[in-house]
Amino acid sequence: MIKLNNVQKIYDNNKQRVTALKNINLEIKSGEIYGIIGYSGAGKSTLIRLINMLENPTAGEIWVNGQRMDRLNNEKLRLARQKIGMIFQNFNLLSSRTVRQNIAFPLEIAGYPKEKIDKRVSELIKLVGLTERADAYPSELSGGQKQRVGIARALANNPEVLLSDEATSALDPKTTESILNLLWEINRKFGITIILITHEMHVIKKICHRVAVIDGGEIVEEGPVTEVFGNPKKEITKEFVKQVPVLSGND
Ligand SMILES: Nc1ncnc2c1ncn2[C@@H]1O[C@H](COP(=O)(O)OP(=O)(O)O)[C@@H](O)[C@H]1O
Ligand SMILES: [Mg+2]
Repeated sequence: MIKLNNVQKIYDNNKQRVTALKNINLEIKSGEIYGIIGYSGAGKSTLIRLINMLENPTAGEIWVNGQRMDRLNNEKLRLARQKIGMIFQNFNLLSSRTVRQNIAFPLEIAGYPKEKIDKRVSELIKLVGLTERADAYPSELSGGQKQRVGIARALANNPEVLLSDEATSALDPKTTESILNLLWEINRKFGITIILITHEMHVIKKICHRVAVIDGGEIVEEGPVTEVFGNPKKEITKEFVKQVPVLSGND
């Protein structure tokens, strides 16, 4: 349902030209949790931002649910983006809005009536376990709570796809664990396709079904997590395997 064909991305500023992605071919199935792992600068954020067209490809095709994303007009792109939620390492919450108001934000933009927004926001707050903190401001929350707000906000418009760019990278191990459990539960309950970017092997190991290893703007290995990491072929993949002691499925 998500397909990238021969995708290339070159950043061309006045001073320099950076080839961030070389020739990406990728197919992500509906309902799976797909991990993309690579070191800093490998092109992970660029790749994920191409899926909701926060970046334009220099060449190639981007398909989401049968729609060619890089060919949509502004209005169609706006609607397509409502079906693609995104969460970030630094949460990107509005500091002047409470938990409830942050989660309501995308629903206000989509133009829903107040009663409908209130009902949906209450459901989401319950789903992410923030009932007691509904009227708190972001500055009053822990990192894990902030990311729960980010997740609730990303899910507000009932997306089919959730993009996660290093969403647990600013969190301690225990909080990371609880956020990954929440993403896992969301995937199972609602069948939302999750694309998760990380530089941390244990994140992939914990919740991803399939994984791509990206290095220097190219996918160097790809497949089911147990296959890729059970029998790593490239040096970089072996380095990631060394990050965790023993690999034995999704335990
Ligand atoms: N807006 C931009 N302008 C110019 N170069 C960029 C821009 N965004 C990213 N890059 C460059 O593209 C490459 C890939 O970056 P990025 O996709 O952010 O990698 P990652 O998320 O894996 O760290 C890097 O060399 C980075 O410096
Ligand atoms: Mg990045």
